[in-house]
Amino acid sequence: MCGIIGYVGKKEALPIILDGLHRLEYRGYDSAGVAVQSSVGIKTARAVGKVAALAERCEGKSLAGTAGIGHTRWATHGKPSEKNTHPHTDCTKSFFIAHNGIIENFQELKEQLSKIGHTFKSETDSEVIAHLIEDAYKKTLNLEQAVQSALRKLRGTYGLAVISSLEPERIIAARMGSPIVIGFGEGENFVASDASPLLSYTRTMLYLEDGEMATLTPQAHTVRTLNDKIVMRSAEMIEWDANKIQKGGFSHFTLKEIMEGPKVIENTLRGRLIAEGGLARLGGLQTISEKLRTAKRIIIIACGTAFHAAQVGEYMLEEYAGIPVEVEFASEFRYRKPIINSETIVIAISQSGETADTLEAIREAKRKGATVLGIVNIVGSTIAREVDAGVYNHAGPEVSVLSTKAYISQLVVLALLTIHIGRERQMSLSVGRRIAKELQELPKKMEKIFESAKNIKSLAKKYAKYEHMLYLGRKYNFATAFEGALKVKEASYIHAEGCGAGEMKHGFIAMIDKEFPTVAMALQDSVYDKMLSNIQEIKARSGRVFAIATEGDKKVAKFADDVVFIPQTLEMLSPILAVIPLQLFAYYLTLERNLDPDRPRNLAKSVTVE
Ligand code: G6P
Repeated sequence: MCGIIGYVGKKEALPIILDGLHRLEYRGYDSAGVAVQSSVGIKTARAVGKVAALAERCEGKSLAGTAGIGHTRWATHGKPSEKNTHPHTDCTKSFFIAHNGIIENFQELKEQLSKIGHTFKSETDSEVIAHLIEDAYKKTLNLEQAVQSALRKLRGTYGLAVISSLEPERIIAARMGSPIVIGFGEGENFVASDASPLLSYTRTMLYLEDGEMATLTPQAHTVRTLNDKIVMRSAEMIEWDANKIQKGGFSHFTLKEIMEGPKVIENTLRGRLIAEGGLARLGGLQTISEKLRTAKRIIIIACGTAFHAAQVGEYMLEEYAGIPVEVEFASEFRYRKPIINSETIVIAISQSGETADTLEAIREAKRKGATVLGIVNIVGSTIAREVDAGVYNHAGPEVSVLSTKAYISQLVVLALLTIHIGRERQMSLSVGRRIAKELQELPKKMEKIFESAKNIKSLAKKYAKYEHMLYLGRKYNFATAFEGALKVKEASYIHAEGCGAGEMKHGFIAMIDKEFPTVAMALQDSVYDKMLSNIQEIKARSGRVFAIATEGDKKVAKFADDVVFIPQTLEMLSPILAVIPLQLFAYYLTLERNLDPDRPRNLAKSVTVE
C-alpha cells in the first residue's frame, strides 16, 4: 500500500528518495512521485507504473536539492494517473505533501475550500491537506503551526510528510492511524512509512504515535502532539539490517522467503521450547498468564493469509488446549455485535501489524473489555503496541506481497501457544513433550520438501494452461487448501478456489470436468480415507488430480495423476509442511505465466485502509 520517504540533510535528496521508493515497492503501488527542494523552489516528477519509470522521468529534470519527499501511491480515491500521483500541492505551489491513509471528510473540506477560491488538480482526498496548509499559513506564517491547524480539521487516517519552499530545509511529518517512522543520521534526518527504506542509512529510529507530528531539519528534530505538547521519547535501535531485505541470490523475494521456512521455524522457536518439560515459554504473555488460565473463550481475528493461520490455530487450541475458539475476519468482527466480556481472549494475527481492519477490530474488542493478544511479525508496529500482550513471530522482514514465511511462523507461534495454554489446562506432560519434540524436527523435514522443487516446477508447467483450479482439504488441512488457492489467485491470476473436502458434494462437484483440475491434501492422517474417496469422485468426473501426500504412501498414486510427497509429522503440525509445495507451486505457476510473483497487480503488502 502507499509508501512515504523523506530526506533533509547535506546530500543530494533525489537518489536517497528514489532508493527509498524502490525499497517501498514491496508494499504494492500503482504510481510514484517526488518533490525536491532546489535553490529555485520545489521541483516535482511523477509517473504512473514502476519507480523505474519515475527514475527515468527524473533524468530529464533538474531535481538537485538536499531536501525532499517521495511517495508510492496505491489508488483509493481517483484512478492511477499522473495527476493523482503524490506529492500534491496547493494553489501557490508552495506546499507539497505525501499522504498515506484516507481523509473521510475530504468532500466537505473540498467544497469549503473551493468556495473560497481554491482550485483542485486531482481527484484525490489527499490534495485537501495541501490547500488547508496553504490557508492556515496565511494566518500563522509558520509551517509547523499551519500543518497543525490543517490536521485538526481532518477526519480519517494519515501518515504525512510535508515540505514547503517558504521554509526550506525542513520536513514536517505526522501520524494518525497510518505509521510514520523518523530516522536519525549525522547532519541528516529521514522520515518514512516503515523502517525498510531507512535501514541503509540509519538504524536509530523513532515511531510516531497517533496524534503526533515531528519537525525535522538536518541537525535537529522535535516531536509534539497536535495540541502542541512537546513529546520526549527516545529513539530505538532497529535490529534488522538492510542486507536481510535483499534477494540474496534468488530471482524473487517470494522464492527466497519460501526457502527461508526452516530458518524461520528455528527463529520462531528459539528460546521458547522447554522440550523435556513439554512447555512453551512465551515471555510476552507473562502479564496475562492468569487471564489465559481462566479465560472461557478465545476469538481469533485476522485477514488474508493470517486468517488461514487462525483457522489452523482454532483446531490446535480446541483439540489440545481444550478451550472454545472462534475465528473471524477482522473486517466482519468490528461491524457486527460480537459477544465479548472480560473472560474472552481475543488473539489478533497480523504479519505487518498495520492492517486497518485488524487494528480496528482490536480497538473494538478492547472497548468491550476483552484481553487482546497479538501475534505480529513487525516489531514496534501499531498492533504490537496496542495489544495487551503478544508474541512476535521472528520471521524477519517479508518483502514479497505473497505471505509465505510469515504464515509458517504464525502456525509455529500458534502451536507454541497451544502448548502454553494447554499445559496450564488439560494437556499432559507426554503430549506437551511430543508436540515440542516434533516442532524441533520440522526444519529438517521442511528441507526435504525442497528436494521436490524441480518436480513441482515441472508440474506447474503442466498446470499453467488451466484457468480454474480447486483446492481440497479437510480438518487440519482445510485451511491449507484455502491458503494454497489464495497464493495461486494472488500471483498467477488463475481462478483457484478452496473447498472443504466434505463440502465438495454440496455444490462444487458440479464444476468438475477435464478443464477443472484439483489440488488435494491427501495426507495419511485421520481424514485420509475420506480424502481418497473424494479424489475418486473427482476422477470419476474426468477431473485431473494433483495430490499432496505422505512420504511412503503407495496407495495415493493409484488415484491421483500427480503426487508430491512430504514427510510425516503430527497431524496438528502437518499444515506447516503441507503448505510448502503449494507455495512453490503458486510461485512456479506465476513464472510460467510470465508474471512477477513479488508484486502482483492490485494487491498491497500492508493494507492500511479499510
Ligand atoms: C494483505 C496482504 C496479504 C495479508 C493480509 C493481512 O491483503 O496482501 O498477504 O495476508 O493483507 O495482512 P497482515 O499484515 O495483517 O498479516
